[in-house]
Amino acid sequence: MRTVYIETYGCQMNVSDSELMFGVLGREGYVRTEDPAAADVLLVNTCAVRDHAEQRVLGRMGELKRYKRPGDVMGVVGCMAQRLGPKLLERVPQVDLVIGPDGYRALPELIARARDGQRATEVTFKQWEHYEDVPPARDNPTSAFVTVQRGCDYRCTFCIVPMTRGPERSRKLADVVGEVARLADGGTSEVTLLGQTVNSYHDGEHDFADLLRAVGAVDGIRRLRFTSLTAMAETPAVCEYVHLPVQSGSSRTLKRMLRRYDRQQYLDVVAALRAAMPGLALSTDIIVGFPGESEDDFQETLSLVEHVAFDDAYTFKYSVREATPAVKIKDHVPEELKTERIGRLIEVVRRVAKRKNMGLVGTSHEVLVEGPAKRGDLLQARTRTNKIALLEGPADWIGTYRRVRFTGTTGSTFTAWPLEKEPEELVTAWR
Ligand code: 5AD
Repeated sequence: MRTVYIETYGCQMNVSDSELMFGVLGREGYVRTEDPAAADVLLVNTCAVRDHAEQRVLGRMGELKRYKRPGDVMGVVGCMAQRLGPKLLERVPQVDLVIGPDGYRALPELIARARDGQRATEVTFKQWEHYEDVPPARDNPTSAFVTVQRGCDYRCTFCIVPMTRGPERSRKLADVVGEVARLADGGTSEVTLLGQTVNSYHDGEHDFADLLRAVGAVDGIRRLRFTSLTAMAETPAVCEYVHLPVQSGSSRTLKRMLRRYDRQQYLDVVAALRAAMPGLALSTDIIVGFPGESEDDFQETLSLVEHVAFDDAYTFKYSVREATPAVKIKDHVPEELKTERIGRLIEVVRRVAKRKNMGLVGTSHEVLVEGPAKRGDLLQARTRTNKIALLEGPADWIGTYRRVRFTGTTGSTFTAWPLEKEPEELVTAWR
């Protein structure tokens, strides 16, 4: 029996793609291992969105190559593989395979060839690749990622993703619903729909609103999540949580980023979402130090964070990505200034989130118990609004829904007390 080890970096789409690769290789008899030293095939699924992400992977490759025994195959897959292609074979001599996000179908064949000493690169985009015939190998029986769209047709000037994931393609609604129905039959009750810009989902006949309604109507689906926006309110399973990347609070910067909204339009969308879904939690992504960002622009980002009062924000220093349009913008923000700005931004993000979370102490929530907490002998659970709560309880609560009351907060996560009533009855009352 052959074993495969996959280490995954980057976004949820990569986590989902790794499940797909386990699926592709599982059909060929491969068994998954968590131990790189025991693996016959070692794959690193990579991110290219910032230089830092790539440097980390290169460092890690240096460590992983120690586990490569004669006859073993080592591959770099995902966005960095797509971006660098054959250059990676030159850069890391132990690497046998370089495969981009549309090439996973070729894994078994390329692995076999690598065993015969043929190193290979597979980085062509396939207009219609959706891996429809490959059942992903998932390891969480309760909660599943389901890819509904691959690629991206946006052209944000800072972003490498259109170049690493190719053109936008949506899966057929019936195929997605079929997959979700099979998952629900197997006991899955929480589904996260994945795509780079899920709100632009369109399969030729149906848009994202149709998709949400159809997936939300599948029997057994109690929580429905997605990576961004719209058509949420009338589908009860859709969770009260949206990740809505803003990138900057300055309209001037947004325009130069080629985002398709300005500050006011973003605020209008937030207001509309909140009106439709009371209690909505919002998170975002923010870039500081985009070329030409002035102190005034940055102040607008700080004031937007205060104004929207995000529940959480992922903050990044702008990182130049080769071949993106922004490369041509000259006016670079010095590294020290980026560091200084991100520091100030994180402080505001934390303060605003803490204020919101303190206000939630004492309130009660439905949580899905996910597993043991990282530390201590508590359980880790998640609310519909994506807040993490730690609680005491038996291990057989894992994978079940409970009612809890928040008893305290660190500012970002919560401690919680289980409410010993019939969860089902309370959930209905609460909704
Ligand atoms: N530099 C810094 N951050 C970036 N992101 C995307 N491209 C870059 C870049 N060149 C951030 C954006 C995006 C998140 C996934 O990564 O905030 O939403």
